[in-house]
Amino acid sequence: MATEKARADLYLGGPATVDVLLAELAGLRAGAGREIAAGVVSLAPGVVVDPAFARQVLPAATEHRATHHNELAAAILEQHGLVADVEVSVPEAERRGSRALEVHPLASAGVELQALLATKVAGRAAKRGEPVRSDARLRVLLLEPWRAWCSVTPHASGPPLLAWPSPFPGGRALGEEQKDAPSSAHRKLDEAIAWLGVTPSERDLVLDLGAAPGGWSSVALSYGAQVVAVDRAELDPRVLAHPRLTHLKKDAFGDLSGYAPSWLLCDVIAAPERSFELARHALQRRALAALVVTLKLKRPVAFDVVKAARALAQKTPGFWGRCKNLVGNKLEVSLLMRRADAAP
Ligand SMILES: C[S@@+](CC[C@H](N)C(=O)[O-])C[C@H]1O[C@@H](n2cnc3c(N)ncnc32)[C@H](O)[C@@H]1O
Repeated sequence: MATEKARADLYLGGPATVDVLLAELAGLRAGAGREIAAGVVSLAPGVVVDPAFARQVLPAATEHRATHHNELAAAILEQHGLVADVEVSVPEAERRGSRALEVHPLASAGVELQALLATKVAGRAAKRGEPVRSDARLRVLLLEPWRAWCSVTPHASGPPLLAWPSPFPGGRALGEEQKDAPSSAHRKLDEAIAWLGVTPSERDLVLDLGAAPGGWSSVALSYGAQVVAVDRAELDPRVLAHPRLTHLKKDAFGDLSGYAPSWLLCDVIAAPERSFELARHALQRRALAALVVTLKLKRPVAFDVVKAARALAQKTPGFWGRCKNLVGNKLEVSLLMRRADAAP
């Protein structure tokens, strides 16, 4: 018989930046965290915080161990009752990229458990008339084939950019891999756009700073936007040839006041304070509807700039924002902001 073993808050981040997540958590809330699986930090239940280096949180999660799947599913439902919306995820694979989930050794066990839970919920509701909660999501994080942590939280009413826990399984908003993209950097912007909940459109002028070889520019072009790509380096010839793209071979921090972008993208390799200032200035311009700015960090991470970015994201009037280390980010955070009144 499966037994409930423990209760904890779990924060999920990237396996390669878990040391940074631990340090950030230490500055945000009481209690010592420890890594219990790749990228998964456990703390005694407490105030739920939103670290930039956590992509997902499972508040007050309970641990369940069993000797087979059926027993594990039964123990989870015993503890949490029947919930219609069930999400099973696994820790992040060490390998990066959009196929990270499929290649995780527990991926097929996760799919099996998800199907089993859905069958059991439907069966018990139909046969025994047990009530099924529709106002919440049951998140199951599988750590071993028959060992999982589970947390139930009410559905968030707002957009993904404001929701916490994240609506994306494991906090990973992964898009399709673009095999013919100029670089794998497109993954970062695809993910950022999913968090933002808005896309550029043919009405937008996108200023893409540090654009070469053109991964982000080609994403913006795919939505029909006009793109001004700024980089001293060369763009991929296929991107450069696009009729809606202009390449400015110049310093991204130089004078670009002749452009009034509705979207600002910045992936320049620069001191994070410089990129942060660029974002702060851009937000003062009336035309700006959204921005994605990468803040490149170094170990040991000085959290001042991350804190400032979080404050900017949360406190800029008329904007919604978030500061997150996305799956596509290495030792970086993405500052994600959009106008609160923008159509989805
Ligand atoms: C991480 S790469 C950008 C990748 C790009 N987002 C993509 O999707 O292909 C960073 C770029 O910043 C550019 N860069 C660095 N400093 C710059 C500066 N001061 N002005 C313009 N570009 C700069 C580099 O040339 C490099 O192409």
